[in-house]
Amino acid sequence: MNARAPKGTADMLPDVARAWEHMQRTAQLLFARYGYEPIYTPTFEHPEVFTRGIGEATDIVSKEMYTFEDKGGRSVTLRPEGTASVVRAALEHNLVANGQSAKLYYAGPMFRYERPQKGRMRQFWQIGAEAIGMAEPGIDAEVIVMLMRYFEELGIPRSNMRLLINTMGDQACRPAYREKVAAFIRDHSSVLCEECNRRAETNPLRAFDCKNPGCRDVMSAAPLLRDELCDDCAAHYAAVKVHLDDLAIPYVEDPSLVRGLDYYTRTVFEVQVDAGLGSQNAIGGGGRYDRLMEEYDGPPTPGLGFALGFERTLLALEAAGVAVLGHPTAEVYVARVDASLGEAVFAIVQELRDVGIPTETDYQARSLKSQFKQADRLGAHAVVVVGPDELAAGEVTIRNMATKDESRVPLGEIAERLKQLLG
Ligand code: HAM
Repeated sequence: MNARAPKGTADMLPDVARAWEHMQRTAQLLFARYGYEPIYTPTFEHPEVFTRGIGEATDIVSKEMYTFEDKGGRSVTLRPEGTASVVRAALEHNLVANGQSAKLYYAGPMFRYERPQKGRMRQFWQIGAEAIGMAEPGIDAEVIVMLMRYFEELGIPRSNMRLLINTMGDQACRPAYREKVAAFIRDHSSVLCEECNRRAETNPLRAFDCKNPGCRDVMSAAPLLRDELCDDCAAHYAAVKVHLDDLAIPYVEDPSLVRGLDYYTRTVFEVQVDAGLGSQNAIGGGGRYDRLMEEYDGPPTPGLGFALGFERTLLALEAAGVAVLGHPTAEVYVARVDASLGEAVFAIVQELRDVGIPTETDYQARSLKSQFKQADRLGAHAVVVVGPDELAAGEVTIRNMATKDESRVPLGEIAERLKQLLG
């Protein structure tokens, strides 16, 4: 058999899994300060949740979804992202009915059949947040600030990050603008790639996102939405920028930022990092999706949010020299002079863990010398040495690993003495 993980997936070994847990914990604590609650939706959904929500003409829906029939003959799709599912769940459970609002966050694996490369996986892990039911521009700024603060709290220096913002307009101004861009593409069809020409018919704004340098050049002269915004969208965008300015959050306005999901209206944003990431340099992004719930036949309901990619954030942290991987640790190591003392050691280890001290011991009949080496590797501050003579006297030896001081301690006082020693 092939004993390797499938292409585009990766095992999260303990050091990386520890970083993932750290990132989730950091999100939990920070997002709670902004009023967000956790939500978990299924890993697979009816395909329509994504085809309708994200849009048939997007790369995600047209090329990248894992859709298959289950044993009951039902078509299901592994979620390529979390927003569509969260909005579907908010509608199903009436979380935002009657003018209520909801702030929700989630973490978990997402699936896209993409060409794997550094920072681009077929199964990747996201942390996301969605604020549903709120239309005011203040919440746009709040969501953006929360994302920036999150990256800062993890340890990515602000100077390493570039926040790009743009507006996608709404149903009042975007349709006419789309037509203008489509006409521009048709006018320049001979100098644009085949894909961009196709986009004129399906999804013209995506031509701004073409990776082909020739197309980028041509598209830099295309009409810009910011010149065609309706008054409401222009006022909303201006207010978001005022809030960001007030909070001294630096941003770059990028009129070509269109993002790969069709549900966006008005504000969109992306956080990019250059160091360590190559071409997959977006560590997080998001935006407003005021029409999404209507795609599921729900009432008009504003909403916005973001998601950040775990793998890329980890690369950005490594590039910034932040040690997030860490090591397994034990504050105390209980060593035995010979293997016959296992029972007494077991009792001491359990007692220390029960009072909250991270404690490790030997399970492989190692020599005393290798037990001390293992204690060092784990970063133990103290080693409890259990020997036959001491044990006969109802005592153990505790060695302070920093000062190398040793003292004999009665069995009944081990936990207390260690707590003093560990401070
Ligand atoms: P997205 O930009 O498609 O947005 O994904 C968000 C982040 O997930 C990206 O910035 C990137 O860090 C990571 N990511 C995406 N695809 C991959 C991949 N193939 N491999 C590794 N990492 C990846 C969304 O998913 C929207 N749901 C964000 C959102 C929430 N908008 C509103 N609310």
